[in-house]
Amino acid sequence: MSNYHIKHLEEYYQVYRKSVRNPEAFWEEIAEEHFVWRKKWDSVLNWDFKKPEVKWFEGAQLNITENCIDRHLTTRGDKTAILFEPNNPKEEALHITYSQLHERVSKMANVLKEQGVKKGDRVCIYLPMIPELAVAVLACARIGAIHSVVFAGFSSNALSTRINDSDCKIVLTSDGSYRGAKTIDLKGIVDKALEDSPGVTSVLVVNRINSDINMKEGRDQWLQPLLDDAYGDCVPEIMNAEDPLFILYTSGSTGKPKGMVHTTAGYMVYTAYTFKNIFQYKEDDIYWCTADIGWITGHSYILYGPLANGATTVMFEGVPSYPDYGRFWEVVEKHKVNQFYTAPTAIRALAKENLEYVEKYDLSSLKVLGSVGEPINEEAWHWYNNNVGKKQSPIVDTWWQTETGGIMISPIPYVTPTTPTFATLPFIGIQPALMDENGKEIKDNQIDGRLCIKFPWPSIARTIWGNHERYRDTYFSAYENKYFTGDGAHRDAVGYYRITGRVDDVIIVSGHNLGTAPIEDAINEHPAIAESAIVGFPHDVKGNALYGYVILKETGEGRDRDNLKKEINQQITEHIGPIAKLDKIQFVSGLPKTRSGKIMRRILRKIASKETSNLGDTSTLLNPEVIKEIMENAF
Ligand code: WT7
Repeated sequence: MSNYHIKHLEEYYQVYRKSVRNPEAFWEEIAEEHFVWRKKWDSVLNWDFKKPEVKWFEGAQLNITENCIDRHLTTRGDKTAILFEPNNPKEEALHITYSQLHERVSKMANVLKEQGVKKGDRVCIYLPMIPELAVAVLACARIGAIHSVVFAGFSSNALSTRINDSDCKIVLTSDGSYRGAKTIDLKGIVDKALEDSPGVTSVLVVNRINSDINMKEGRDQWLQPLLDDAYGDCVPEIMNAEDPLFILYTSGSTGKPKGMVHTTAGYMVYTAYTFKNIFQYKEDDIYWCTADIGWITGHSYILYGPLANGATTVMFEGVPSYPDYGRFWEVVEKHKVNQFYTAPTAIRALAKENLEYVEKYDLSSLKVLGSVGEPINEEAWHWYNNNVGKKQSPIVDTWWQTETGGIMISPIPYVTPTTPTFATLPFIGIQPALMDENGKEIKDNQIDGRLCIKFPWPSIARTIWGNHERYRDTYFSAYENKYFTGDGAHRDAVGYYRITGRVDDVIIVSGHNLGTAPIEDAINEHPAIAESAIVGFPHDVKGNALYGYVILKETGEGRDRDNLKKEINQQITEHIGPIAKLDKIQFVSGLPKTRSGKIMRRILRKIASKETSNLGDTSTLLNPEVIKEIMENAF
């Protein structure tokens, strides 16, 4: 028997060593014993980070939905697979059993087929957190179509860019969505997006909010009647191990989002194995991850990882503040949640509110608390530990990325002793390295460096859709033969890792990964604006907030500044979404630039963070005089 479920620290070290000494033998054993295959692999791993190319389980054939659904039907057919908790607490929760999930996914798969969707086609899913979203994702996987889920908080512009980049012909959406006390006109956003995406020939619409929407003839159809007529069984498409499973976009240091491509077998094996261990999932547990399926956290740890383990996974449509700040804890009590996985920004927001919201509810079912998306600060860690976990539930601070597919550095609860703000130890099979400025690996402990991974793991993204060169440049060119994460990290005396934050032009705001370039591009499209620079600064709830330095064109000089600020944020909302709005906007006459014309963001970051006592070396600047002006008018 392989070490599928790690139970104590000695075992962790022993299994870790095994996984590093002979990765192929290790992962082969895990894959062999815990999944169903139509055909076994010819080779476990082929890789070359120089190309770069990574292939796991080549030659194997499978369908991931057979692993996530069908194989559970005999033993867990009546067990709840997805527990849907609606936005409105007065609306009843929905328990979708594995048998029902099988039928719903089959019907949806058959509807997609009728719409002409074939293996390898891309399907854009722009849906709120309702069961149809989960069903649509799995239905794509059933027929070998590549799903591209776009978070339903993104704007029409962002949606259109993503549809066009992966050339989707079909979009699944809903008439609208509920978000706390608000409703959002999703279909209106889709209609607008499709003005710039003429390739889309079919839009299937879920009725969620019963609103009177515009249906374009020949293109738009209500989904429900199609599902009603569809056959409730669908033979799964047999996929090769390295066939793409999905595309998920993440922002980067240029304006264009990166469509990260994840493939089938390795992704399945790694997400399932990490889920089992990092949440110590036991058969009758109720597991809840509060993320949206529009992000990688939802893909890997609401859907694929839990379902591959036959788990009950909660899917929550709402927000933490509606109808009041006790909503999360009410749901934990109501469904007796055992593992709860959320983001530091949510914890910080709730920690600001009255403690009664937490104390009112019985949280004794909780066994494991998770955190993801950004560094969790010490204060938030303690609040989570004391008030939610009552010091009884270990906190797993899980570090990973859209690109890594699964959790990379994390404690294993009840196994790894935790330390606030430390993601602690690499998970089984993960080989981190810290690099110094000269590109050399630092072997010592108690040091800071740039975080790389020096050996492939099964769920690493294989490419950027349509742009393998960008994939190489972004992740494999900074350090030879290593995957570069874009993060900085500290390694302490016992080998624990603390992630210190991004070292590139990505800013994590409320756990959302935002590139500065796309925001600057959006602002610069405003007719009154010549140039802009975005930096992050500390914010007590969001972790980081955005500070924009904006240079006006001469024609903009006479304009009302407050109106301009509103228009800038409007512009950002339209191009990206409200999550990328700026907290502070400062109009400046120039930006500090190096002689080669690069904006010195380091200085702008310090000014925005009010850390102006030591601005560092400014001697290489082309225009040092501008700094004084910027500092005088900051905040
Ligand atoms: C970036 C990846 C992985 C799912 C959600 C975000 C930051 C993520 C942690 C953590 C410190 C973290 C990193 C990373 N990050 N988790 N536990 N501690 N930082 O996925 O949008 O691809 O963002 O989020 O900076 O590189 P993503």
